[in-house]
Amino acid sequence: MKIFKNISLQKFNTFGIKVFAQELIIFEESKETQDYFQQNDLPQTRMIIGGGSNLLFTKDYSGSLYKMGNKGMDVIDQRSSHIWVKVAAGEDWDSVVSWAVENGYGGIENLSHIPGTIGAAAVQNIGAYGVEFQDVFQSLEAIQLSNGENTNFYLGEMSYEYRNSKFKTSLKNQFIITSVIIKLSRFPMLKLDYGQIKEEALKLSGKSLPDISDIRKAVIHIRQSKLPDPKEIGNAGSFFKNPIVDSKTFDVLQQKYPDIAYYKLEDSQYKLAAAWLIEYSGLKGIHKGKAGIHPQHALILTNNGNATGKEILHLSQFVQSQVKKDFNIELSPEVLIV
Ligand code: EPU
Repeated sequence: MKIFKNISLQKFNTFGIKVFAQELIIFEESKETQDYFQQNDLPQTRMIIGGGSNLLFTKDYSGSLYKMGNKGMDVIDQRSSHIWVKVAAGEDWDSVVSWAVENGYGGIENLSHIPGTIGAAAVQNIGAYGVEFQDVFQSLEAIQLSNGENTNFYLGEMSYEYRNSKFKTSLKNQFIITSVIIKLSRFPMLKLDYGQIKEEALKLSGKSLPDISDIRKAVIHIRQSKLPDPKEIGNAGSFFKNPIVDSKTFDVLQQKYPDIAYYKLEDSQYKLAAAWLIEYSGLKGIHKGKAGIHPQHALILTNNGNATGKEILHLSQFVQSQVKKDFNIELSPEVLIV
């Protein structure tokens, strides 16, 4: 366990915002985490962080931040069709994907190159190119901060939705996840129907039947061509969620804007591409002070060099007001604003 006082969080958030936290505790393994929460009273202000890839700090944090720094993966069960892997919550998500693809286990190749830890992936229900984390999730172990007790949570208890789970709502900051079990397939079923995935995988591999490693390469290629690398330009991926509207609202919009980008969901609902709305509002590539909207992808807000969290927040509010004015649609942040 490492305890830091009055520490800069610049390295702990991918926006690269320079704020300070009163305390940051990084736990190395489960037992010490349990002992810590059994023996210590909880401060009023506290939060659990992962890789910091979905956070915007707008001011110094006057409380305690907790982070799992444990690493490692174990295959805990194998059957003819699937394997079950237990992963330490602090493990880097993309290392898990890379390991799975190298060993021929399918299910998460479409989720390649997403920054963050697997613990955060489970909280956030990360998703990309037609796959969501919940599709492979089996269970997780978490420690209750108030008493140090260890509890298992299974798929049915997670209340998974688009970019949401119980750990973002009713159980927010009450449990620290220590490990996650995912189920991967020995006979991968490829998901090729989202956007340019199929085309890109065929082109890059030169094969008529791509495999999971071709999909991983295609996803990485697409992401690198559109999304800025947080190591070079501070950002947190998609800043807003794609808004979901009913068919009546959608019909009106589509009549007015025939080229509007959307995905049809079940229950006659439609998910609109927030990036399209922002681009159509004329905001792609703009900047206000050191905060910007990425010129290649309108859903990505960027720190163009020493921006403050407040500058990025103000730009996000400006985007929200323009999109509201132009389309009467409310954009909600996907990023957690602290
Ligand atoms: N588009 C624009 N302008 C742009 C960018 C995109 O009009 O500047 C249009 C595209 O033409 C396309 C549509 O918007 O028709 C969707 O774009 P894209 O495929 O890039 O996906 P997205 O809906 O913007 C979501 C996720 C991403 C994920 C991609 C791929 C959310 C909030 N974001 O973005 O996740 O990688 O799909 O599946 O759901 C993240 O969560 O941080 C993230 C990057």
